[in-house]
Amino acid sequence: MKGLFITLEGGDGAGKSTQIRNIESFFTERGFVVVHTREPGGTPIGEKLREILLDKNNKEMDPVAEMLIYAASRAQHVAEVIRPAIEEGKVVICDRFTDSSIAYQGYGRGLGDMVSEVNARATGGLEPDITFWLDIDPETGKERAKQVGEPDRLELEKMDFHYRFYEGYKAMAMEHPGRIKRIDASMTPDEMKDAIYAHLERLCAKDQ
Ligand code: TYD
Repeated sequence: MKGLFITLEGGDGAGKSTQIRNIESFFTERGFVVVHTREPGGTPIGEKLREILLDKNNKEMDPVAEMLIYAASRAQHVAEVIRPAIEEGKVVICDRFTDSSIAYQGYGRGLGDMVSEVNARATGGLEPDITFWLDIDPETGKERAKQVGEPDRLELEKMDFHYRFYEGYKAMAMEHPGRIKRIDASMTPDEMKDAIYAHLERLCAKDQ
């Protein structure tokens, strides 16, 4: 049996970690083997690339170089972890995937279509079965994220960068309504969980 590939997307402070734990419970309670992973990272090589990408001292990083390093981490991740797990019938839950690159590098840095072209190569065309976009407006997200910890290199970007990638997520959600499910992150964590579970119930029913 083929497994499932589920991704979570959204800006800072949207509450992704809590919902990832909820999704994990949804599937383990139903007897599935779950692989929980993240980007950038998810493999030993990817975790090294992650350090480079998020390092606050790498202020001079060129936007194209940045996009290619995210894509390099993703290519390794798909080959080493994601594709084999799906083929073994597991449920892969990934914190961020290609949509993050389209939002942050495509819209945020203004690299446009180049990002989807490079990523189609990096992933071999692999797309999630379902993506939850936890929608939080950039100002609220920033306030919430402040309470969590030190900002990384991307989080330190000016607010207009945050608004640009937010617009990217909005545009992608409109473009792919079948795959990308918008979850209003101004709801309570329990309300968000209920909304996500309703989508997962439908996905599982469809898959049988
Ligand atoms: P992370 O700590 O995983 O952020 P979060 O907790 O918000 O998910 O850091 C990942 C950062 O990298 C985040 O600011 C988003 C950014 N990013 C991109 O710019 N492009 C990408 O393709 C990915 C996967 C992440």
